[in-house]
Amino acid sequence: MTTSNKPKIGIVISSIRAHRFADKPAQWIHELASKRTDMDFEVVDLRDFDLPLFAEAKSPSRGTPENEVARRWSAKLAELDGLLFIVAEYNRSITGALKNALDYAYKEFNRKPAAFVGYGGVGGARAVEQLRLMTVELQMAPTRNAVHINMEPFMAVMKGEKTLAEIDYLNASANTMLDEFAWWVHALNAAR
Ligand SMILES: Cc1cc2nc3c(=O)[nH]c(=O)nc-3n(C[C@H](O)[C@H](O)[C@H](O)COP(=O)(O)O)c2cc1C
Repeated sequence: MTTSNKPKIGIVISSIRAHRFADKPAQWIHELASKRTDMDFEVVDLRDFDLPLFAEAKSPSRGTPENEVARRWSAKLAELDGLLFIVAEYNRSITGALKNALDYAYKEFNRKPAAFVGYGGVGGARAVEQLRLMTVELQMAPTRNAVHINMEPFMAVMKGEKTLAEIDYLNASANTMLDEFAWWVHALNAAR
């Protein structure tokens, strides 16, 4: 078995609810990104990390969490060279599940790039902007470009009238975002 030495990117699914829309953008961007030869992608689903609400004695910036699931989450993050967040917008921000997961780690995020695929009424833009601020506190490098799945495609895909892969502007914006992301992934890999 050969092990790839390409940078490893986690596509983080931030919604954990039943019947979530999140699987559609996650699958679409995974397929599109996997056509690239410069990075390897894997889906990292917050459903697989059933984290309790953060109540650790110490901030993760000052020590390893005690909770076993949190340790598994930190270990997964430590393997990754960048994070591509699939961003649901809940009450104009990110999901509680994602905020909780961000609170559980620190150094595992540091000096790694972050990119975003948002969806919702305004393409998840309000949630993505808030997430950008959080990634700065985690010492990540958020990309300027993001993918925003706006109301019209969001509804069309939700109703099963179209697939995301059939929507040209989304493919174009995903490739622009991935090109910028790749630059940061390679630059920060070398610098780390
Ligand atoms: C608790 C909650 C709050 C929401 N708030 C917003 C919002 O502020 N802006 C928005 O565009 N959509 C909002 N929505 C609609 C979501 O964009 C839509 O339900 C989407 O499918 C959620 O992603 P998910 O299905 O992957 O969980 C909200 C949905 C929920 C469940």
